[in-house]
Amino acid sequence: MNVLIDQKQMEELKQGDAMIKVENLTKKFGDFTALDGISFDVKTGEIFGLLGPNGAGKSTTLRILSTLARPTSGTASIGGFDVVKSDNQVRKLIGIVSEKMIMYDRLTARENLWFFGNLFEIPHRELSERIDELLELVKLTKFKNTMVGTFSTGMRQRMNVVRALLNMPEVLFLDEPTLGLDPQSSVEIREFIRKLNRERRTTIIITTHTMLDADMLCDRIAIIDHGKVVALDTSANLKRKISGENTAVLKLDIANLTLNITESIKSLTCVQTVSQDNLTQIRLLARGEDAFDTVIDTVRRQNGRITSIENLQPTLEDVFLHLTGHDVRDSADQKIPLERHRRGFGMARKRVR
Ligand SMILES: Nc1ncnc2c1ncn2[C@@H]1O[C@H](COP(=O)(O)OP(=O)(O)OP(=O)(O)O)[C@@H](O)[C@H]1O
Ligand SMILES: [Mg+2]
Repeated sequence: MNVLIDQKQMEELKQGDAMIKVENLTKKFGDFTALDGISFDVKTGEIFGLLGPNGAGKSTTLRILSTLARPTSGTASIGGFDVVKSDNQVRKLIGIVSEKMIMYDRLTARENLWFFGNLFEIPHRELSERIDELLELVKLTKFKNTMVGTFSTGMRQRMNVVRALLNMPEVLFLDEPTLGLDPQSSVEIREFIRKLNRERRTTIIITTHTMLDADMLCDRIAIIDHGKVVALDTSANLKRKISGENTAVLKLDIANLTLNITESIKSLTCVQTVSQDNLTQIRLLARGEDAFDTVIDTVRRQNGRITSIENLQPTLEDVFLHLTGHDVRDSADQKIPLERHRRGFGMARKRVR
């Protein structure tokens, strides 16, 4: 094996606590603040999620951690190495799968990996074995001599992951690994990430705006919005927090649901967000002890016929709505008036899971 970092040092790190430390990281592009003083630690062997809408600052964070961009202020270190001062050491520890990966379409899977492996100066015999092993791991062995140009999006994404693993990184950054994949390919990528984490104890940061990724994969999640960490905890604790704050998630089936009824519900001060899944069902996030009764009274006053009411467990999506006042699928670039934040505006929005 190509020893890239002192073995003893690595063992110490694995026994230690934080593999990644981020302190007060800020990134400005001209007048625009993309990252506004974010801080978090990632433990060795942890799968850590950065969850946030478009433009929240997720990729910018990963770009800084992987030495592709410099922070305006603040510090970050990986395995004790500062990402600015010791960028060469950091690069030996990490692998990154990002949205903008380059693969050569006219080369085969194996040829592509051979090319990138050589950039890491991995001895040839070792590289050859590693490529075979990794292709097997992502179930691409039978396509190893096929041109990458013919691959589906899912196959390409698996190739990107393999490429990031060529140097056997201790830390893997995955920027939206399931973006644009069909459900089956997403499941396969998630399984692979879990396996990698379990078998090699690879520390992983994954960015996503898919609740399923965050919920199913991550040990802890930092919810980020407008360049700030607004909450950081396990998925279960995040959900518990909003239940504890007297917030209910209600699903109402109203046989004769009308626009007037939904508008009346939206205008209630106890109602934070409303979304509609189909012609008769609405889902809402309401706060306060009387919220349940107030909503039902309001529907009845409008002659709404309620056929069922469910008090649901909050999802990560509800947590996100509660904390930020907007949907994780809304872009952080959109300027949403505060009033709409409070009342919710997701009426016709299709839910994505
Ligand atoms: N090189 C750049 N120059 C100017 N602005 C930038 C640059 N890179 C990012 N930004 C801005 O910084 C903000 C954060 O971008 P970033 O790519 O980190 O968001 P993100 O959370 O990864 O979003 P997405 O979910 O769309 O990938 C955005 O408003 C983006 O337009
Ligand atoms: Mg991004």
